[in-house]
Amino acid sequence: MSIHALAQFPACRPRRLRQSPVLRQLVRETHLNAGQLVLPLFVRAGRKLRRPIGAMPGVFQLSPDELLREAVKAHAAGVPAVLLFGIPETKDAKASGAYAANGIVQQAVRLLKQELPGLLVITDVCLCEYMEHGHCGLVHSGKAGARILNDPTLKLLARTAASHVQAGADLVAPSDMMDGRVGAIRRELDRLGFLETPIMAYAAKFASAFYGPFREAAESAPKFGDRRSYQMDPANASEALREVALDLQEGADIVMVKPALAYLDILYRVKAEFGYPTAAYAVSAEYSMVKAAGAKGWIDERALTLESLLAMRRAGADILITYAAVEAARWLKAG
Ligand code: PBG
Repeated sequence: MSIHALAQFPACRPRRLRQSPVLRQLVRETHLNAGQLVLPLFVRAGRKLRRPIGAMPGVFQLSPDELLREAVKAHAAGVPAVLLFGIPETKDAKASGAYAANGIVQQAVRLLKQELPGLLVITDVCLCEYMEHGHCGLVHSGKAGARILNDPTLKLLARTAASHVQAGADLVAPSDMMDGRVGAIRRELDRLGFLETPIMAYAAKFASAFYGPFREAAESAPKFGDRRSYQMDPANASEALREVALDLQEGADIVMVKPALAYLDILYRVKAEFGYPTAAYAVSAEYSMVKAAGAKGWIDERALTLESLLAMRRAGADILITYAAVEAARWLKAG
């Protein structure tokens, strides 16, 4: 029915349904549960290590033992899944640390799956943290400047994903934005017999200033240039739908839109167009802004966080990836 048709119902008084909390609950269209949250975590070598991230209060680079403690806390709060990022001890030009059988993420996955088998472990599949130049793919530096080598990168990404799954990862999440990577990863997982392991593709990932604090957290800032040759232009929405279509065609099981709050239109269109399980990633600066304003007493951090997450759900997100997952889960439990 169109909004104009409302003229036919002159007796309509929407306020009637807002008169009590019970009534409001009955007619509520969108629900936010802890079971929809995913907590991103950063792991690096060491013991008893909790290195704070300056621009992300409450977020740390964790050694595996501390990572396990955080994961136990999150799980106990009702957060069903974590998304792992690794910071390797050394970086090189072919991202060896990303697919090393005993790399930091592979170690962390084994530990988490052994100690906390009920927790769903998702791994971020990308090369930027492991590359000395900080780009998400192999780089060719020629006379005309540096460029990303899309196709040769695919093999390394597939190898990385496979090594995560061999370590026990439940789900892999490629975030590199190379063309064809979902297909390359799917084929490699199938070849190794992991036919049932799903892929959550960072499908519509924009080249965004909202990733600033993350690059400190993951030590993955590009040493030269930027990511605009592989991540999307924030001006483009139809292109986002094409990116999603391609990833689905290549075998993605879940598609992601990232960042979240400034891209709710994209989220809405992706869900409406494809109807696939859709994730929203509330990225680092979304978290930092709320934390900073909250610390100053300028906003109600709790109310603002929950309202933002609800808005992502309303726009079409099934899955919410957020650094505030544990707090949000606790707030939701407290009611
Ligand atoms: C790696 C990756 C990034 C994020 C997730 N995976 C950074 C980037 O693309 O530069 C950003 C997450 C955040 O800002 O919270 N490619």
